[in-house]
Amino acid sequence: MLPEDQIDEFVNMMQIYEGAMYEISTKLEILDSEFQVRFSHDPIHHMERRLKSVHSIFEKLQRRHLDISTRSIRDNLFDVAGIRVICNYCDDVYSVAQYLSKQTDIQVLQVKDYIKNPKPNGYRSLHVIYAVPVFLSSGAHYTPVEVQFRTIAMDYWASLEHALRYKAGLPDAKLAEHSQTLLDCAHSLQNIETQMQGIHRDINGAPQVEEAPNSKA
Ligand code: GTP
Ligand code: MG
Repeated sequence: MLPEDQIDEFVNMMQIYEGAMYEISTKLEILDSEFQVRFSHDPIHHMERRLKSVHSIFEKLQRRHLDISTRSIRDNLFDVAGIRVICNYCDDVYSVAQYLSKQTDIQVLQVKDYIKNPKPNGYRSLHVIYAVPVFLSSGAHYTPVEVQFRTIAMDYWASLEHALRYKAGLPDAKLAEHSQTLLDCAHSLQNIETQMQGIHRDINGAPQVEEAPNSKA
């Protein structure tokens, strides 16, 4: 458990993470409405936000054999504030991520492009960690926010894979069989997405940004 004298600091710190999360989601909402006005197309289907629970924070520190302190949370955990941005198409994922990353008041700390390089299980998404200044009476506090950009199809797939991974008591053979089927599904979904993206590009002509943002850190 956290030392008694760090509890107030922990509460303040969580409030800063929450502020950072709101700053990023507001920026994303502004980009989404701008696209709607300029291209008559909403790139963002919906967003989900969450602060990591106190339980998961301490569980993660313990699992990684890290110090249990506010300092250790600040130095080691970059997903205390998390946003999931679910887009309609893969083009939208890259353009929204790129436009957000170019904003001069935030920094890109890390980029993991599991769309270009899917995980062996078939998982696809673009993960970017941003550092955002949160202004308090004491000045600017640069705070990390993990943003997972993905399409509806990637999200649909990840939800089922997550459910399978945490399903207790499944026989090994069954788990292996379902994992293989899920990998096949990931390929089929990718294929369908490419075809539908093609139709969308042809009839709507929204901007295409094929690159993931670069990490500046
Ligand atoms: P953690 O932050 O400890 O999870 O490890 P990491 O930094 O190596 O993870 P990564 O950036 O690859 O993934 C972080 C988050 O992405 C996870 O907490 C999940 O929300 C999601 N994620 C990553 N891999 C998978 C996967 O294979 N399946 C599903 N469903 N989600 C995944
Ligand atoms: Mg992580």
